[in-house]
Amino acid sequence: MQLDDKTAIVTGGASGLGGATAAALVEGGCSVAILDIDKDKGTAHAAALGDRARFIPTDVTDESSVTAAISSVLEIEGALHICVNCAGIGPPAKTVGRDGPHPLGLFEKVVRINLIGTFNVARLAAHAMQSNDPDDGERGVIVNTASVAAYEGQIGQVAYAASKGGIVGMTVPMARDLARDGIRVNTIAPGIFDTPLLAGLPDNVRDALGQMVLNPQRLGHPAEFARLAVFLIQSPYLNAETVRIDGGIRMQPR
Ligand SMILES: NC(=O)c1ccc[n+]([C@@H]2O[C@H](COP(=O)([O-])OP(=O)(O)OC[C@H]3O[C@@H](n4cnc5c(N)ncnc54)[C@H](O)[C@@H]3O)[C@@H](O)[C@H]2O)c1
Repeated sequence: MQLDDKTAIVTGGASGLGGATAAALVEGGCSVAILDIDKDKGTAHAAALGDRARFIPTDVTDESSVTAAISSVLEIEGALHICVNCAGIGPPAKTVGRDGPHPLGLFEKVVRINLIGTFNVARLAAHAMQSNDPDDGERGVIVNTASVAAYEGQIGQVAYAASKGGIVGMTVPMARDLARDGIRVNTIAPGIFDTPLLAGLPDNVRDALGQMVLNPQRLGHPAEFARLAVFLIQSPYLNAETVRIDGGIRMQPR
């Protein structure tokens, strides 16, 4: 699907990988709605991207919040063609840590935001896309964000890895469910990217993380993630796939 004059939503679009993707989509000619829970960052980023971007405060885990956000996009733009899911969190905790077993509520929270939130947005976006007139056979494209932790979760990433493994697992069946509607579904599994999530770490820790990457030995740039998201959207024969973008890293236990 070409980007020109299309409408996109980007969850987690206020920051990091989602922020870079929102910028790339605007650059490519899309109208973009940033759906994020962070009002300050969302408002500021949408303003920085100009007239074709808007911020809609949204909690991806909340059915009525996402329904309202998509309704408002449809009201203003008339259609929704592209959905990129980047909202996510990754608080560390071990299965059994110093303070006892992994808090169940924390496990549920990570799965709720990363996995259920992704599904919630994808299903409601796909429902809106079903009404589109096909563009070269396509009514819509969905890109979800997993992580290499789906395959090689590290110590302390049990909840995060479970949530991201769920996103990888639903890629094929979701693409199958939506095939007849002309909607493609792909997933990106990023390695370690230089986002606000990592910006708080001291330089030596960031350098050490970069050294763990096979080649090139550095953190990924959010713009590199965005370029892949755009490529997946623009490539009609790419469907039901999870693509790693990680400089060849294979995460070690810690
Ligand atoms: N940065 C990395 O190295 C990396 C690696 C692998 C996967 N990822 C994944 O990429 C995605 C983006 O990560 P990032 O590094 O850009 O993080 P980030 O913290 O910069 O951005 C995440 C955004 O999600 C938003 N968000 C959180 N909960 C939300 C909710 N309930 N509803 C709506 N928005 C919500 C936050 O406000 C934030 O703007 C996440 O899913 C993350 O797990 C990141």
